[in-house]
Order: sequence, then C-alpha cells, then structure tokens
Amino acid sequence: MSAQEIYIKVVQDGPYMVYGDPKIMEQIIVTDEKRISVGYEDGELYESNGVVALCRCGNSENAPFCDGAHKHSNFNGTEYASFEPFINGADAIEGPRLTLLDNSDFCAYGRFCDAGERVWKLTQLGHDELATREACDCPAGRLVMLDENDTPIEPSFEPTLAMLEDTALKISGPIWVKGGVRVESADGRSYEVRNRQTLCRCGQSENKPFCNGAHAAPSVRYKANKRKGI
Ligand code: FES
Repeated sequence: MSAQEIYIKVVQDGPYMVYGDPKIMEQIIVTDEKRISVGYEDGELYESNGVVALCRCGNSENAPFCDGAHKHSNFNGTEYASFEPFINGADAIEGPRLTLLDNSDFCAYGRFCDAGERVWKLTQLGHDELATREACDCPAGRLVMLDENDTPIEPSFEPTLAMLEDTALKISGPIWVKGGVRVESADGRSYEVRNRQTLCRCGQSENKPFCNGAHAAPSVRYKANKRKGI
C-alpha cells in the first residue's frame, strides 16, 4: 500500500477512518419544483489535515466527524455487504444502443433514476441522453450505463467524500465516495474499488458499510446536522 493512498478503513462497531487526505465536503441534492432530483450543489468544505474519523453510527453530535458516540449507543456496525464485484449482482436492461446495469443492493434513495421518466424505461425506449444522465447521477453506483461496446459511461471525479444532504425530504443521506477510493472492511478485505458508491452514516443500513436507503425510512429520517439546526 502506498503511503499516499487515499482509502477508507471501516472500524468494527466504530467510525470510518479516512487516510490520504481526500477532499471532504457537504453536497446537497438539488430538486425542481416537483421535488425531482436534478443535480448537486456544493456545501461546506471540511478541514482534513491527516487522518480523519467520520461518524458511522449516526449519533455523533459533531457530524460528519466521530465524537465517540458509538461507544455509548450499542452501535452494531457488522458488515453484511458482499465482496463480489457489482456486476455479479446486476440485472441488465437492454436498449437499442445502450445497456443499463442495475444492482439493487446499492441504493441511496437519491431518486435521480426517476427524473421525469424512469431510467429503465428510458433505456429500453432509446432515450439515451436522459437515461445516461440519470444513471450517472446515481450516487450509490446502483445504476451503470454501458455504451455500445459494453464500456461503462462514468462521470470523472477527483477522490472526494461528500456528505449528502437531502433538503427536499429534510433528511441527511450517506457519504458519497467518489473517484475510486478503496474501502477496506474491518477484517482487512477490500471491497470492489468503484467510481461511485455510498457509505451508510445513519447506522441503520442492512447492507453495511454501504447505504441501502434506510436513512429515508419514516422510522429513521436521519439528520446529521442537528447541531446546525437543519
Ligand atoms: S445513510 Fe443510507 S442507510 Fe444509512
């Protein structure tokens, strides 16, 4: 492992340790008047000199950083996610030119897949531009569009950890891990390195360490920024 490698280490029943000093920031899901997700807006940029611990249990009073709350909240951070490559669990939806891969194990409930028309139908009907945009806006990487040569069409990202805020629903979302940052499990194994994926920070996902949308459930409605009064 390079000394400069940017990676995230999952701590058993504890936080995410972040190494290599990637950019850490807040990003807000932008919606239109119909509350359809249409893009992202940059929020606060966090200072990160050296190794950083990010909250994984959802209880920190100093989110997105860990304040040790997991020790007092009986946080069970057991990882249930598969180490198999994304493609092994993905369905393929064929269009006239493009193919959409969909692995529903990874869903951050960002709702970009339904920005006007649903991405699955758009793909089948050959509405390639909008279908590709919807797939590429999916923060969790649940949706990946393949071109006519079966090459993934991916946005270009620098290594960044973005704390998602969902102002339309007035909740916080997961950590959007962008740009091929490796995630290492508590037992030392690496998950597939991907351009887009989302890590749970509400503590409630059943696919830990990845987000499965549980933060948006009525019984959870995760809010990371209680200290800001949002
Ligand atoms: S942040 Fe999405 S399930 Fe926890």
